[in-house]
Amino acid sequence: MRRRIIAGNWKMNKTRDEAVDLVGDLKESLADVGDVGDVEVVVCPPFTALDAVREALRGSNIEIGAQNMHWEDEGAFTGEISPLMLKNLGCVYVILGHSERRTYFGETDESVNRKVKSAMSNGLLPIVCVGETLEEREAGKTEAVVVRQTKAALAGVKTNGAERIVMAYEPVWAIGTGRTASADEANRVIRIIRQAVAEVFNERIAQEVRIQYGGSVKPQNIADFLGQPEIDGALVGGASLDAASFAAIVKPR
Ligand code: 13P
Repeated sequence: MRRRIIAGNWKMNKTRDEAVDLVGDLKESLADVGDVGDVEVVVCPPFTALDAVREALRGSNIEIGAQNMHWEDEGAFTGEISPLMLKNLGCVYVILGHSERRTYFGETDESVNRKVKSAMSNGLLPIVCVGETLEEREAGKTEAVVVRQTKAALAGVKTNGAERIVMAYEPVWAIGTGRTASADEANRVIRIIRQAVAEVFNERIAQEVRIQYGGSVKPQNIADFLGQPEIDGALVGGASLDAASFAAIVKPR
């Protein structure tokens, strides 16, 4: 049985002080979640708030993740953050290959792959994002794109421990638009991603790897996605910036 995982990707939102306020509220709303719901909860604030958020979450079951990292442990890479730095702050997860990174910051299948390998060898668990653009979808390329991105991201990753990798299917056209893939369609694409994971590693690992859906997830539609057999959770953007809405997404109804 795969344990569900709901992660909030705050993107470039919340100052340190705002972040502390938000997780204070969240901690209260979700105090019972570790007991009543078999769901893992992660928040991914900006780098500048990670330390304060970690402190504010002490005593809760909520884990922290980063939104990106460099693949090197240290060195002359002005403006970058290394896996060692994230690990040292108490990060458990790191989002890698988000479409905003691919689109605006030139990330490629190759750089995402380097980061995934580095995260794994540094004991950080990657949440690897894949997904097609609207143009690719309309051209009937959804499957080819997610299979290519998945296989490229995972190439050369050691099989040992690979079951702890998290994948996120985020159709680019559904991010921040209020449009979502239908739950059926998301389930279908996620099954294809799982098959690609099996081809890289093996069937056992593919059955253990958790695959989230992301793209305009809200309290109103989360149940549809979680009702699908292949969907193991959600990567939530906008709706994770408000404690009440994120809590409503996390809490079992
Ligand atoms: P929204 O939930 O705002 O559509 O963002 C999704 C996302 O990109 C999460 O990584």
